[in-house]
Amino acid sequence: MKTYLVTGGAGFIGSNFVHYMLNKYNDIKIINVDKLTYAGNLENLKGCEQNPNYVFVQADICDKEAIEDIFKNYDIDYVVNFAAESHVDRSIKMPEIFVQTNVLGTVNLLNIAKNNWETKDGFKAGKKYLQISTDEVYGSLGKEGFFTETTPLNPHSPYSASKASADMIVKAYFDTFKMPINITRCSNNYGPYQFPEKLIPLLINNCLNKNELPVYGDGMNIRDWLYVEDHCKAIDMVLNEGELGRVYNVGGHNERTNIFIVKTVIQYIHDNVDSTVDESLIKYVEDRKGHDRRYGIDPTRIKDELDWYPETKFEVGIVKTIKWYLQNKEWMENVTSGTYQDYYKKMYNNK
Ligand code: NAD
Ligand code: DAU
Repeated sequence: MKTYLVTGGAGFIGSNFVHYMLNKYNDIKIINVDKLTYAGNLENLKGCEQNPNYVFVQADICDKEAIEDIFKNYDIDYVVNFAAESHVDRSIKMPEIFVQTNVLGTVNLLNIAKNNWETKDGFKAGKKYLQISTDEVYGSLGKEGFFTETTPLNPHSPYSASKASADMIVKAYFDTFKMPINITRCSNNYGPYQFPEKLIPLLINNCLNKNELPVYGDGMNIRDWLYVEDHCKAIDMVLNEGELGRVYNVGGHNERTNIFIVKTVIQYIHDNVDSTVDESLIKYVEDRKGHDRRYGIDPTRIKDELDWYPETKFEVGIVKTIKWYLQNKEWMENVTSGTYQDYYKKMYNNK
């Protein structure tokens, strides 16, 4: 029975991963460690609490004692590090917390895993640390080309710079100590349980409340969209079969301009929910500082080596996603009001 230490498992991708794994396997144990920042929400894990193979621990990945205790209490085989400050706009306002969690938190996890897994004859068999990274570490593309695993790192925002720093530290633990690691770099995820500061759930929420839809700059920036369950499948494959020390890009050639996404959400809500919702809600606003123009992943390595492919076409995934938010309005209300907002204000001094 493999034991997974999943960090940030109460956030968007982490919670989808916990559900995916507990549904797929009944012979694994998951220890979910999450600090429960504004982005972490135990409601995302409804149904898991009853599973005897699931344990939740509220802790900060920077907390040495708390993480050491987990390694003392469980024989951890895999660390899957999702925990991060993940929102680019926030990193522009408050970079320090991004360095704290994304860089120092990663080093803390690596050190403790290494101390527990290393013997005088090398690392124990079957152990692996997986860093969940992002395509944003590569910077921005022009009209042509894609990010491959050998594209030089050229991050622009404090968020992506913190993720690139973490990647370099993880790589250093492989190069220096031969620690068993992998790094995955994924494009923009969408799906259930995404905090509505991110583009797609923000658009859905604002359409339903007839609020303006803020479009940064000219709306022609491009993101490469991946349905979150396809990402979870890739992570599972990399954990099981990824060659040690290797980086795997994860993405499915689903590039869309932001304005296309905005119009797609409006159209669905107009046709299926409220015919008074239309493009008059669109508001072009000041561009994000240092806004990356285009992301596009070349997933050849993960396809060729691990036979991974994304199953969900964007047109199918976006409808599934909008329907999920329509069916879970209470979730949306809870995360956009009350305790989560209070926590955010307190933590970030009302910035
Ligand atoms: P999220 O913001 O929804 O969730 C982050 C989770 O980490 C939250 O539950 C939060 O409470 C927890 N957390 C934050 N700081 C912590 C700390 N110090 N200790 C313990 N827990 C802490 O983020 P997400 O969108 O689910 O992203 C997960 C990971 O995937 C991140 O590492 C992110 O960089 C990466 N990623 C995200 C995307 C995307 O499109 N969302 C794409 C590529 C990579
Ligand atoms: O590429 C992977 C990254 O995708 C992850 O590493 C990040 O954690 C994740 O947040 C996401 O970053 P983006 O900055 O691409 O996502 P976001 O949803 O913030 O924005 C998507 C695009 O939409 C981006 O070009 C900015 C634009 N945007 C965003 C918001 C919130 C708007 O035009 N208006 C908005 O209100």
